[in-house]
Amino acid sequence: MRLRKARHHLLIAAIAAVSLSFLAAIGSTSAVEERARPARGADADILQQARKALDEGKKTFRFDTFGDEAFWGDSLKLHQAIAGAANGGVGDGLTPHEALAVGLKVDVDALPGSLKSDLRHGRVNLDDPATTLALLRLNAVVGVTGFFERNGAQTLRSVGIQCALCHSTVDDSFAAGIGSRLDGWANRDLDVGQIINLAPDLSVVNALLGVSDQTTRAVVTSWGPGKFDAELFLDGQNSPTLIPPAFGLAGVNLHTWTGWGSVSHWNAFVANLEMHGKGRFWDPRLNDASQFPIAAANGFGNLNPDLSPDDDRITPKLADLHFYQLAIPAPAPPDDSFDHAAAKRGDVLFSGKAKCNSCHVEPLWTEPGWNLHTPAEVGIDELQADRAPDRRYRTSPLGGLWTHTKGGFYHDGRFATLPDVVDHYDAFLNLGLTAAEKSDLVEYLKSLPD
Ligand code: HEC
Ligand code: HEC
Repeated sequence: MRLRKARHHLLIAAIAAVSLSFLAAIGSTSAVEERARPARGADADILQQARKALDEGKKTFRFDTFGDEAFWGDSLKLHQAIAGAANGGVGDGLTPHEALAVGLKVDVDALPGSLKSDLRHGRVNLDDPATTLALLRLNAVVGVTGFFERNGAQTLRSVGIQCALCHSTVDDSFAAGIGSRLDGWANRDLDVGQIINLAPDLSVVNALLGVSDQTTRAVVTSWGPGKFDAELFLDGQNSPTLIPPAFGLAGVNLHTWTGWGSVSHWNAFVANLEMHGKGRFWDPRLNDASQFPIAAANGFGNLNPDLSPDDDRITPKLADLHFYQLAIPAPAPPDDSFDHAAAKRGDVLFSGKAKCNSCHVEPLWTEPGWNLHTPAEVGIDELQADRAPDRRYRTSPLGGLWTHTKGGFYHDGRFATLPDVVDHYDAFLNLGLTAAEKSDLVEYLKSLPD
């Protein structure tokens, strides 16, 4: 009896083993076939569309001005200040050293080998604006496009900007400020206000804001590196925010520090209202004259309603631009940039005693859903929240924090370091974290996305 039972068990075990290996074999065969077999029909269409969208979206993110040279060049005449009087512009011109000092970056992959070698051997004059023009002609200044006279003369006739100006940097592989592009990384060296202040003619901005030239220049130069005020042209207040990273955003519902909308909403907003490209924009929330006096007076809530689709340089780009941004991963930190054992302990604290995971839900690091909070819920003032329609702050996604430690944390950089952020939560939420626990939590934050 006992023997029979044992044999019975053996038999069952044998059958189970055979069927498991059989199933595994089927599984692995089909997985291999899936990889080897070229996609056909609808699957192929989807793949092809995804590849095209990535390529087109990347081009738009890096190189498309959406026609905004009509603003930065034709109106503000920024190109004249870049060229300098010696090259057909005005003033001293912008030398490469000065351009790097205001945080502009040079794409080393756009430079010919001979120029790289001359640069390496100190044979290029980085104190001559003519060199800046040469870099613009090579399309090597990240986020800035120079438009030159077509008659062969090397005169800069206009200049436009791209998303990459603020949302890309370089890896400094060649020299400080010169390297390969890192799309989605916030350029926290970039002093947008100083660049605007270079422009010889800010009269359109002064008229929009209803202030003197002196006031406009004082406002923009008060921002400092890594900051920009995207709401200035809506409400005329001066409260700049940090440039946030534009990676790790897939799955995140609302975007910007104050949750204005989706990535695509914000892209249309920025391309039209900040960069001053040529397109349509629709957001009737901007018609509220008490919250957005300048936007309401200028009809920004329904921009260019009569623009012919053929002349719209923004709307046709939005789909691929959206797709590209969602594809940019939050970059993993260098292996030796944090204490692994401490980070492991911090991981436990993050979703335990420190309660971070109640809002920064792993692995999105923001709420799956309506990811906004009142200022009181995070223990800060309402100034910036009140400049957005929902009057709230968006739970920041935390992947790739290590790439933007410069300029501080939270929308305005009020917490200079990650330990300061953790101290804030410890006090505000009464967490009772020990010094060791705080430090473990910080190591974990430095490790994201782990
Ligand atoms: C002059 C600098 C500048 C330029 C140019 C710029 N941005 Fe931004 N971007 C910002 C700032 C500052 C914010 C934060 C705004 C806020 O919260 O009020 C932001 C926010 C964003 C966000 C939200 C990120 C998040 O965490 O949710 C995305 C996405 C984005 N920008 C994409 C773009 C794209 C695409 C373009 C080009 C069409 C662009 N930006 C052009 C400065 C810039
Ligand atoms: C009640 C929801 C909530 C909780 C709980 C919470 N956060 Fe936040 N967190 C936010 C919001 C909202 C912001 C954006 C604040 C702003 O824009 O000024 C933020 C911002 C941050 C930032 C700054 C990100 C950046 O790019 O500057 C860090 C870091 C952070 N939180 C870490 C934590 C840690 C660590 C914990 C746990 C101790 C935690 N958070 C708990 C909602 C929360």
